[in-house]
Formats: sequence, structure tokens, C-alpha cells
Amino acid sequence: MIRRRDLLRSTVAGAGVLLATRCLPFAEAFDSATTGARIEVLTDEPLGTISPNIYGHFTENLSGVVYDGMWVGENSKIPNIHGIRKELVDEMRKIKPSVVRFPGGCFADSYDWRDGIGPADKRPRRTNFWEDEESPSAPASHKYDPNQFGTNEFVRFCKLIGSEPYLAGNVRSLSAQEFYRWIEYCNSPAGSTTLADTRAAAGFPEPFNVHYWGVGNESWGCGGNFTPQEYAVEFRRWTTWVPRFHQELAFIASGPNVDDWNWTRGFLEEILKKGRGQLRSIYGMALHHYAWNLSRGATQDWVKGKGDALKFDVVDWYELLREGERMEGLITGHWQIMSEFDHEHSIKLIVDEWGPWYRPGGEATPTNQLEQIPTLRDAVFSGMTLDMFNRHPEKVAMANCAQLINCLNSLYLAHEDKFCVTPVGHVFGMYADHQGGQSLRTIFSVPDVTYDRDGKQARFWGLKGSASLHDKQLVLTAVNPEVTSAHETEIVVRGASVQSGSATTLTNPDIHAHNSFEQRNVVTPQSKAVEGKGGRLTYTFSPASVTKLVLTLG
Ligand code: AHR
Repeated sequence: MIRRRDLLRSTVAGAGVLLATRCLPFAEAFDSATTGARIEVLTDEPLGTISPNIYGHFTENLSGVVYDGMWVGENSKIPNIHGIRKELVDEMRKIKPSVVRFPGGCFADSYDWRDGIGPADKRPRRTNFWEDEESPSAPASHKYDPNQFGTNEFVRFCKLIGSEPYLAGNVRSLSAQEFYRWIEYCNSPAGSTTLADTRAAAGFPEPFNVHYWGVGNESWGCGGNFTPQEYAVEFRRWTTWVPRFHQELAFIASGPNVDDWNWTRGFLEEILKKGRGQLRSIYGMALHHYAWNLSRGATQDWVKGKGDALKFDVVDWYELLREGERMEGLITGHWQIMSEFDHEHSIKLIVDEWGPWYRPGGEATPTNQLEQIPTLRDAVFSGMTLDMFNRHPEKVAMANCAQLINCLNSLYLAHEDKFCVTPVGHVFGMYADHQGGQSLRTIFSVPDVTYDRDGKQARFWGLKGSASLHDKQLVLTAVNPEVTSAHETEIVVRGASVQSGSATTLTNPDIHAHNSFEQRNVVTPQSKAVEGKGGRLTYTFSPASVTKLVLTLG
């Protein structure tokens, strides 16, 4: 095992060689920095309510996500509930999963929902969107969709875990009429339509009442290669006079790829050509951002720019966080453009794909395309990202981590009867307490981290996070990205006194640490009690860590 201090030393020296040393106990493995670090929580400056949907998930019919990950089949020896992996259901129930997006992703714009309903043994096998990219040894279910997991199974999964379904329509290759019919299948009252009868025949007489509907996915790319203007025309057509069945529907427009400001502007400009009332048909615009380019500016090539999920140096650790941190500028930048058209801000941002994306090679199950084994680095990345969403509650109404299981920034890994919760899964468990809280302005005054970036000194912030108030309970989360130094920090809660509290930390002496099927608990949260005095307490944030403080205020 290579420890952080050794890594830093080798990087600073520019040797590029990792020094293997005796493994010291954790307390000795870092130097505590007492540099006047301070956090101020301003209880009288609320920013808005944190939507539980910020803690949403994404499950695409892609390689091992559905088949083997979520779905094992009713006749499997693997414990299951109507074919759905039971251990996944049990784990998800612990983290309050608010909303799950399905069936894609790019897959959505090739999917015919009609293939996935009706008797399971009559459902067709179809070529999966991702078939071309699958390895020859991949299971058939990854290449040719057996359609055993369709709308009924997905909605059942959502109900089992206590989540809302979010379905993405196929704009590229189906008609608007089929979109209406999917809504009719899901939402028309028992006995009202032929499709309601079909649903009832499958064991679901009551409507699913699906509220969130995506109008395509990445319509600027795999979802149809539209210009923003062309897509706006499609969006208007698809969302005009859709049957509601007496309930509100939330239509989510395919939004920009990263910093494509032109998409946001072009789409809204075109939408408004038919009048301001058109804005009311848009619940949100879906922004996608993956942190993938670890080349330190050397290339923009999608393949060459990627780094390794498991083998990385300290500089790669910071570069990933730096790439992920772009999210905050994307939120404020697109919001600014949206405000030029939507003065009341009735349209929200939906970040329905986010996470790190590494090159192939780091899979837990080699035949699972796009699978990565998340490490402590991805946990810190995820905590940082969720904190950014928490800090913009009036802008971000939903976010969906890509993707739930056996894929990119997964919370869980599974193969046959093997299963583990990743460090990312633990972060979601820790941060669930923020849901529905009042986000508070919180000032982090902590010295920057400096690190060697190809012979030049680079900087990254030293500690950041978010805070939310739930009656008398304050939830404060923070990530310390610094790989070697702890931050002894004075925390001041303005206008309140701290009665009692607890601290939960996720860290490990090795920045590469991860959980696996064989060693499931290498990175797990540890909790302890903390004490405050008046409105203050002192807390030491461990290096390379994600921390949650839950404080009862008087
Ligand atoms: O999450 C994997 C893919 O990334 C999705 O299918 C697509 O929407 C995005 O480009």
C-alpha cells in the first residue's frame, strides 16, 4: 500500500516513483495544520430549501447496470424481490434515494418502451444501443436487450426503495405519439384505457403516476444531433397537449453539454418565439458534466485525456477535483443565461448526469463496459459535488449521479452473488441528512492547497462544504482535499449555541483505497461524539476526507 505522504514526496521531488514504506498508524500519517482555519455558519442567511431530488440516481440499460446489477431474475439463486437484487434494495433504503432516472442516457433515444411491457416471455430481444462497444466476451444480455426489465420492473424498483421514477423519452427514433402513449400506459386511471388494462394485466391496476419525464437525452449528440433551435421545436411539439390524467407533469428538456452556453441560449430563444407562456411547459433543463480530462491541458481528446481509476498520482487526485469543481461555474453560468429569458426563474437546472469518467481497465467485472471501481478520490469528488448542489438550492432542483451500479461513479458494485457498497455509496448515506433542509450561507476560510503541476505550483482550495438547518439540527458537511494535512478548524455557528453533536468521517491513509467484493469495508464512515462551547467548536478535518457534523443547536 502506498500512503499519501509518500505519494506527495515523490510528486514534489518530481521523481514519479512511488516510495513503498512501512504502513504507519493513521494518526502518524499526516501533519496537522493549525493555520487559523475557520468555518462560519450564518444561521440567519438561508439560501433556500435543498431539494431531496439533488440526491437522485441514474440507471441506464448499459452493460452491467440493469442486467447483473439491478436485475437478477425471479428464478435466480441470488436473493431477489420479483427479480430485483435484494441487497441493492436493502442498501438503497438506507440512503433515502429520492428519484431514479431510466432507461438512459443514450440508450433512451433508441428504446421502444412497448418492448418492455406485457408477459416477460413474449418480450422481444433488441440490439442494445451500446452493443458496438461491448467486448466479445460480454454476456448476451449486455448486447441484446432481453427486455425483462421494463417500465413495470423499474417502477416496482422505485417503489421498493422509496423513490420517484424519472423516465426519459425517445426523441431521436420514436414519435411524439408514442411518448403520449407511454404517459398513458403509466398514468391513465385503472380501467380507463386499453393501456391501463394492459398495465393491470401485468399486476399493476393503479396508475404509476410518473411525474418526471425527460424529453430525450443529450439531444445535441446521441439523442438526435439537433441544433438547439431544432430541438426547441421538437420540445414544443412533444410537450403540447400531452394527456395529464389530472396530475402535473414535469418535462425536462435536454440541456447543455458542459459549457455549451450557446445551447442554453439558442434553445430558450427559440422556445420564446411562440410567447412567454411556452416557458411554463419546461420544468427543468438537464445539464451534463463529467470530469474526464486529467491531461493537465495537454489534450482535449476524449480518449487520450482520461486517467486511470485506480492508479494515480497526487497530481491526478487534484486534477480530478479541479475538473469536477467546474460544476459550480456551470451552474451559475447557465443560470445567468436562463435568467435573460426566464425572469422569474420558473425553469430549474437538472444535473441529470455527473461524475468522474476514467479510461477502461478499472472494472470490477471486466466485461462491464464503463464500469469503474470508485476510490476515496471519487468519494471526495462526490462530497464536493453534492456540497455545490446544496449551495445552490434555488437553482438546482434535481441531480442524478452517473450511474447507480456497475458503471461510472457507482454507489454499488455487483456481480452474480457478490456485492459491495463503494466509498461513493457511503457519501450518499452521509449526505442524506441534508435533504429538505434549509441551506445556509457558510464561509470557509482555510488556506489553499498547493501542489506540483508539471513543474509549476498549482492551487486548490483547502476545505469547502455546505450546511443545512432542520429545525434545531444543523448538518454541516465538508471535504478536505489536502492529501497530507489535517485542518484544525474553528467552527462558529452564528446566532446559536451548540448543545451536542456527532462527527462522521470517511477517509483512509491510502488515497487509492476502495472497497471490493473480497474486502467490502476498507473505506467506511466512522462516527464519534463532538462537543461545542456556546456557538463554537473546534474540529480537525482529516486529510483526504469527507466529513459530516450533525449538531443540535440551542
Ligand atoms: O453515462 C453514460 C453516457 O454518458 C450516457 O448514456 C450519455 O447520456 C452520456 O454521454
